[in-house]
Amino acid sequence: MAKKAIGVFDSGLGGLTAVRELLTVLPNENIVYFGDTGRVPYGNRSRETIKKYSIQDARFLLTKNVKLIIAACGTASSVAPEIGGNISVPFTGVVAPTAAAAVKATKNGKVGVIGTTATIKTGSYKREIQRLSPDTEVFEQDCPLFVPLVENGFISPDDEIVKLVIERYLSSLRESGIDTLILGCTHYPIIAEAISEALPGVRLIDSGRETAIYAASILKEQNALAADDTPGECEFYVSDTTEGFSTLAGIFLGRDISASVSRVDIERI
Ligand code: DGL
Repeated sequence: MAKKAIGVFDSGLGGLTAVRELLTVLPNENIVYFGDTGRVPYGNRSRETIKKYSIQDARFLLTKNVKLIIAACGTASSVAPEIGGNISVPFTGVVAPTAAAAVKATKNGKVGVIGTTATIKTGSYKREIQRLSPDTEVFEQDCPLFVPLVENGFISPDDEIVKLVIERYLSSLRESGIDTLILGCTHYPIIAEAISEALPGVRLIDSGRETAIYAASILKEQNALAADDTPGECEFYVSDTTEGFSTLAGIFLGRDISASVSRVDIERI
C-alpha cells in the first residue's frame, strides 16, 4: 500500500460496520482491518484478557503503516480505553462518538444501551451519556448471544432463532419507553433490521457508523486525509481461517474481498 492507511480492529466481523461507513465517507483512504476471529468473542472474558488482546490488535495494526487506529469494538473501547494513550498515532474507540450521537437523537431523554457483558459491566456508555446530558435516563442490557449469532451467519430478520434471542434480551427495554437505542457492540448493526422489528419506533444508533464518521473528522482536522483521489485499497487480516470471514464480510460489504484476506498469528505480535 503506497499511502498510509486507517487501521481498524475488532474481535471479528463487527468492525466492518465502521469499514462500511469509511468506504462511503472516505473512498480514497486505504484501510487495514484486523478481526480477531481466532479469539472471538471478547465480551465474556476477563478485563485482563480483553486488555491483552486489544493491545496486541493495536500493535499488529501499527506494523502496517497506519495513520489512525479505530478500536471498532465496544468491548475493547470500554474495557481498555487507555490503549489510546500508549500508541504513536491518533486513536479512537466507539464509546464517545456513539454516546454523543444518542444524546443528540433522543427526544424523550430515555436511551437504551445494549452491548456485551463486559461492556455493560463497565457502564461506559451510561457514564458518557450522563456526562454529556445528566438528565438522560439510561437503560442497559447485555446481549451475550448476539455476537456468536452474527459470527455464525445468523443475521436474517426472518430467522426464528434470531427473533427468539432478540425477544429474550429486548422485551424489558420495550417496556422502558426508550426512544433511542445504542447498538453498543459493533456486531449488532449487522442484525439491526431484526432489532428494529422488536422495538418499533425506536431510533437505532450504530456504533461502527458513528465512530467512522468521527474518525473521518479527526483526519480532516489533522490535515491527514489522503492527498490524491485514487480509490483506496483494503487489506483484511484474521487470526483464524479466512474462508468464513471472507464469505460473511463479502456479503456485508457487498463486494468480493476474498483475495485481500490473510491469516496472521496474533499471539506472536
Ligand atoms: N464487536 C465487539 C464489540 O463491539 C464484540 C465483542 C465480542 O467479541 O464479544 O463489543
